[in-house]
Amino acid sequence: LAFLTFLICFYNIIERSDCGQNSTEHEKVLSIKAATEEQVNVLKNISSCNQTALWQPASPRHITAETEVHLYIYSGGVNHVTDLLDKHKITYRVLLENAQELMKQQTRNETADPRSSSANADRYYSLEDIYHWINKTRQEHPEMVEVIMIGSSFEKHPLLVMKLSGRRAAVDKAMWMDCGIHAREWISPAFCQYFIRYVLTNYNRFPDITSLLDKMDIYVLPVLNPDGYKYTWTTNRMWRKNRSVREDSVCVGADLNRNFDASWCTEGASSDPCSEIYCGQYPESEPEVNAVAKFLRTHKDTVKFYFSIHSYSQMLLFPYSYTYELAQNHAELLDLVKDASQKIRRFYGKLYRFGAGAKTIYLAPGGSDDWAYNQGIKYSFTFELQDQGKYGFLLPPSLISSACNDALLAIKTIATRALQKI
Ligand code: ARG
Ligand code: ZN
Repeated sequence: LAFLTFLICFYNIIERSDCGQNSTEHEKVLSIKAATEEQVNVLKNISSCNQTALWQPASPRHITAETEVHLYIYSGGVNHVTDLLDKHKITYRVLLENAQELMKQQTRNETADPRSSSANADRYYSLEDIYHWINKTRQEHPEMVEVIMIGSSFEKHPLLVMKLSGRRAAVDKAMWMDCGIHAREWISPAFCQYFIRYVLTNYNRFPDITSLLDKMDIYVLPVLNPDGYKYTWTTNRMWRKNRSVREDSVCVGADLNRNFDASWCTEGASSDPCSEIYCGQYPESEPEVNAVAKFLRTHKDTVKFYFSIHSYSQMLLFPYSYTYELAQNHAELLDLVKDASQKIRRFYGKLYRFGAGAKTIYLAPGGSDDWAYNQGIKYSFTFELQDQGKYGFLLPPSLISSACNDALLAIKTIATRALQKI
């Protein structure tokens, strides 16, 4: 298998250096389904190749017959990959004809509407812009916002948590939310920003958000993986992991959602540093993960809710992801996400699947939600935001607010209901 991968990738290199005209090809995203064992193997090889970036599932090892595989193909690889698929009679359709054009739209700073200033949810923010925005937001709402540095990333970017509090006496409950654990999931940091803006603008205006903020503090970490996020802006839009380097491998980065101390590096993660689901050298080896875990350990008596925001595929997940066993309050959690999913369906017409992570997607050990849950945070969730694969990680700016509204409704639904019981 490794040899076949080598051959396919090697062939790619030759092909690429031979025909420069291939660079005029548009980069594409394909939706591919393998049916037979042989086709599955070919597809696994193609998606391990460096001419491609696997969008879905997270790793080639999750590909089976009938898995809907979403595969990004870099310029120069398109003909080669489609030829291979045709040769093995593997069926596919084109999801995105011209991915580069979409990427351009996403890094545009200005918008068509001149009134929409930096305060609006109509564009993606670079890492620098997010830091600037955090600072500005704190200055504008000094009585409600505190910025806490919980640590720094591998490349020494600060990990900044925004603590939101109502204008009231201290309380003993809190909610945690992190965004941007996976670098290419740009809608995630955008949602943390959207959420913070929403809370600050609507406190003492809307009863639901006022009540939430009167009962608990809300900790938001807008970019858990700043190094990776920056890298997706400067170098490789499809990067998932962080950017830590290790002496014994040329491959960079660990999957931060496999690095938590929850059945670490068992089935569903990889010990290969080159894998997209590489678990790191040991639990919490990555500074970003260690910072979050340390903060939550010292606040676990007050933190009642844990939310981790990802994209894409539209799912509301809860523990466990490292085992098929049911969480102790499985029925309650299921009831909460079901309610949230139905509300999103009713209000916005969007379909969100829901359930325990392992059964709903795939086994994924070392995840933040499972770890938080085992720390005693009984309301622990991972959301996969819009969309279902039409644009995937390249969700256009015009859809940011729609995606954010879904997630906001889910959080309000879950937190409001659960708060009545605790
Ligand atoms: N898609 C995400 C990932 O592959 C989340 C998978 C669910 N795992 C979890 N621990 N919630 O990391
Ligand atoms: Zn993710």
